Amino acid sequence: MTVATNPAYAGPNPKDYGLPDERELAAWIARSGYFPAFSPPTAASSSQTPAAYSPAVVPKAFPAAPLYTPELPVAPSASAATAGIPRVGEVSLSKIRADFPILAERVEGKQLVWLDNAATTQRPRQVIDRLVHYYEHENSNVHRGAHTLAARSTDAYEAAREKIARFLGAPGKDNIVFVRGTTEGINLVAQSFVKPNLQPGDEIILTVAEHHANIVPWQLIAEETGAVLRVAPVDDTGQIILPEYTRLFNKRTRFASFAQVSNALGTILPVEELIAIAHRFGVPTLVDGAQSVSHIPVNVTALDADFFVFSGHKIFGPTGIGAVYGKKALLEAAKPYQGGGNMIADVTFERTQYHEAPEKFEAGTGNIADAVGLGAAIDYVTSLGLPHTARYEHELLAYGTKELLKIPGLRLIGTATQKASVLSFILDGHSVEDVGQHLARAGIAVRAGHHCAQPILRRFGLEATVRPSLAFYNLPEEIDALAQALRQLTH
Ligand code: ALA
Repeated sequence: MTVATNPAYAGPNPKDYGLPDERELAAWIARSGYFPAFSPPTAASSSQTPAAYSPAVVPKAFPAAPLYTPELPVAPSASAATAGIPRVGEVSLSKIRADFPILAERVEGKQLVWLDNAATTQRPRQVIDRLVHYYEHENSNVHRGAHTLAARSTDAYEAAREKIARFLGAPGKDNIVFVRGTTEGINLVAQSFVKPNLQPGDEIILTVAEHHANIVPWQLIAEETGAVLRVAPVDDTGQIILPEYTRLFNKRTRFASFAQVSNALGTILPVEELIAIAHRFGVPTLVDGAQSVSHIPVNVTALDADFFVFSGHKIFGPTGIGAVYGKKALLEAAKPYQGGGNMIADVTFERTQYHEAPEKFEAGTGNIADAVGLGAAIDYVTSLGLPHTARYEHELLAYGTKELLKIPGLRLIGTATQKASVLSFILDGHSVEDVGQHLARAGIAVRAGHHCAQPILRRFGLEATVRPSLAFYNLPEEIDALAQALRQLTH
């Protein structure tokens, strides 16, 4: 297997494929509104802490027209994250936090401060109660019985599928396949859809910002087929360099896969553009939504996404459940991932006829209760309104950025102007492990390590960072507690 990192500007001539050249691409991107002042990056324009994130200019209020969510409501006059008791839309943070029993937990004799939301989110009582209700009143296998409980569990399971479809803006519930999580979802698409079409020398495009779950499954099928991985680079802020991504495409490109939000840096990648560029070459794509679905309103139809995957536990739902969205024609074209019961229409020893998608990909008894729990999590998030939670989180991220940059010796890793949730950093003179342990003793939970994303950390010359990550139930006071604990270390 060969891994070809992108030799700068040495790809095929975009003009050969009917694509814009560098200058035209810059103009096209600028028109798209994603990078309003986009110009191809130069060494001089790269810096670790761009002006937008220097303490003096961090916006106090949410910008009126956030670049990534044009449907967000108009900005409030005062910052919801820092003025009085914060509110998410109309709902006060104290009410929201009361929904999450674990947030009242004490650890190390201190009030828990949960800032490890990129690793997993906490569950509201509405999800916990839904699981209990399922086991107390509905538990049965699905699709298989004539009795009352089979009907109840099947209805609950399929209703959850329907909720996911609506939440993602999918055409219908048959576009949604239940899986264990993002990792299984990417493996499913790699094995079922991409691998059968690969010939030696074919190419798959990734970005350097990917989680290992969006690298290793592609390496596995590349090894088996003789395909090659091509890797799009990021600039010094952690944002993808679109012209270089574009140059990776050629006649051998069969698939492209990228995260919508980097788990290690928090960069929001311009997936609409990444998909559009791939489609101009006739290349289908997968969006890894693990770190985006709880932070950014997603509409797979508007994005024209071919596949979109996410995990329930990153969006306040149970572990061990997630979903793959796939366009109907692509799901139909894909081979089953695993064989077994539930996915078949008819079996003889000579041949098997499969059900259509999504059942075709759901062999065996699935994680029924947790699928139902995920449906409840989606109801919860929907009731708060993602535009509202996204707005609040954005303000909290801006506040956190401002406060962390006041800590002497702290260097933020990942400073793109479009970010969600994540505040990765290193601290001069202190190992990442020491910082993580010091914060743990203060009751503050963060992830300290490589975040299962070694290539992107190595892009910044690092093996590890400390990674606080935010959700809508976090408070400005929790940022203050983090900053205070860090200051104790630096004094
Ligand atoms: N993917 C999870 C993280 O980023 C586990 O921490």
